[in-house]
Amino acid sequence: MAVNPVKVIYHGHAAVSIESDGHNIVIDPFFSGNPAARISADAIDPDFILISHGHGDHVGDAIDIAKRTNALVIANFEIVNWLAQQGVERTHPLHIGGGNTFPFGYCKMTIAHHGSSLPDGAYGGNPGGFLLRLNSGKTIYFAGDTALTYDMKFLADENVDLAILPIGDNFTMGQDDAIKAVQLIRPAVVLPIHYNT
Ligand code: NI
Ligand code: MN
Repeated sequence: MAVNPVKVIYHGHAAVSIESDGHNIVIDPFFSGNPAARISADAIDPDFILISHGHGDHVGDAIDIAKRTNALVIANFEIVNWLAQQGVERTHPLHIGGGNTFPFGYCKMTIAHHGSSLPDGAYGGNPGGFLLRLNSGKTIYFAGDTALTYDMKFLADENVDLAILPIGDNFTMGQDDAIKAVQLIRPAVVLPIHYNT
């Protein structure tokens, strides 16, 4: 498989864009009310939206962006059902440990230890993260909001090129535990997120 350049843009908090192989993926698209975001939700033009869990700082502007762009939303079954009730038409449900091949590559939902209630209080299923094996040849792990968990050790077998890990403490693992996560995952590059917001 050829290795093509992958562009990753961090928008602050947990919002990340990935451009790969002609596809534009946005994860946890929280722009409105995100003090660190330098662009507005209107400027985002993804063909895929991934949502790690139901909390408002992760669902963010997903509904508006999905309706405007007709992007396919990938999230757990409960979140996808809730989005459909809000009028989002194109969704694909995954659940923990399960993955699927999409036009950009393979996406698997990984374990996260956290909560997942949706902004209106609806049940958001289990929280998760994503392991992306991009068609470009790169592997990206987006942990989502999570504690340090020993399950991350399995990711050492995945040759992760980029691990995107929360470090903010309080709601997720802090810096010391994130360092332990890196020691378990052994990625080539780490992008710390979910702090100072
Ligand atoms: Ni959360
Ligand atoms: Mn969060």
